[in-house]
Amino acid sequence: MLPCTLLRCLTVMAAVNETFTATVKTVVNDGNGLVEHPSGQLFFVPGVWAEERGIFRITGFKKRHGYARLETLLEPSRHRITPPCPHHGFVAGDCGGCPWQFVDYKAQISAKQAFVERALARLAPKSVRPLWPAPDTLGYRNRAQLKTDGKSIGYVSAGSNALAPIEDCLVLSDHNRHTLQALLATLPNPAWRPARKQAWTTLDLDEDVDASGVSVNRRRPFRQANTVQNMRMRAWLGERLASMTSDGVVLELFAGAGNFTEAIVAAGSGPVLAVEGDRAALAALADARLLNVETLAADLFSDEGIEGVHRRARGATVLVLDPPREGFKGIGNLLSKKSQFGDIFYISCDLATFARDAAVCLDRGFVLKEVQPLDQFPQTPHIELLAWFSRKR
Ligand SMILES: C[S@@+](CC[C@H](N)C(=O)[O-])C[C@H]1O[C@@H](n2cnc3c(N)ncnc32)[C@H](O)[C@@H]1O
Repeated sequence: MLPCTLLRCLTVMAAVNETFTATVKTVVNDGNGLVEHPSGQLFFVPGVWAEERGIFRITGFKKRHGYARLETLLEPSRHRITPPCPHHGFVAGDCGGCPWQFVDYKAQISAKQAFVERALARLAPKSVRPLWPAPDTLGYRNRAQLKTDGKSIGYVSAGSNALAPIEDCLVLSDHNRHTLQALLATLPNPAWRPARKQAWTTLDLDEDVDASGVSVNRRRPFRQANTVQNMRMRAWLGERLASMTSDGVVLELFAGAGNFTEAIVAAGSGPVLAVEGDRAALAALADARLLNVETLAADLFSDEGIEGVHRRARGATVLVLDPPREGFKGIGNLLSKKSQFGDIFYISCDLATFARDAAVCLDRGFVLKEVQPLDQFPQTPHIELLAWFSRKR
């Protein structure tokens, strides 16, 4: 006898371009909805919300995953709203920047909270706090990278790698919207024609510069993109450090230009060793001449870089880290039995890599005291986490 699911798969095979009717089971971490084909195969669908019913068209398969798009919405979610931005959408030519603009903010927040609770259910279910929503759901971005081919300016289109031209961008701060208008006024701009083998030229906007200071084909040093929420992250870290009695060395990894270094110093913690791979960011940090702060340039994704940190930070008692989305695979090497770390403050912008690294910290004898999720990027599925681990006594 064949098992039921296999029998179903053999009798109803899913094929590209085929349509089927289904109800969205849930929304997953990348922001897509999940629907089940009559064969039992699951498909990722952009632009749908949990419990919505619709007719879906299969668009393709990648590895074991199926992808589909919404063809007809039969039963909309009560959270569905008219997207505020005319460029929002999910077909070629639409902007892919804010994939959740079609649902109200309350639903976005609940979904993010559920993602965090689900991801940490086995590790530390009781330590997850309610997410801090962003006070501004539009107009919050203090920096952004636009693309241009010299004829139009935009973002990468949803569902393709093509440029989606824009006339405005509602998530940019007023200053950056103004800069965008000034850049649009220069079109067509032959100086921005992409170099050979490049799809486009990049334009990096930032609160600190106007249109004449925009970086062309050059990334600006990292900056937390939501100023208000960044201040809350700094305050969260500062309050916890100030509540601790230790005055041992604080090792700060992925320090950037010193955003959290400033908060550590203001909290009156011990001496800080701030480590960063981007030399421009590190130079900016050194220029700030913060009291009791030493800097170290290192590639923290290399064994050599971690070795160097090990040598310089022997005896450090507090670890603060704010890695990019890749997380910090080397964390286990720093937390050997001989290490003196009593507390770890892990600021994360990626739930999956955080859960991976958190499991290593727990395995090395730490407990997860607190996880504070917060929203830096309304209208998108991105989540930031502030986590505090302490060594088990
Ligand atoms: C999420 S940002 C945080 C920066 C800073 N903490 C802040 O709040 O502005 C991550 C930082 O990691 C740095 N970084 C990325 N890869 C790195 C590597 N392999 N080694 C060292 N630093 C790296 C980036 O340059 C960036 O400054």
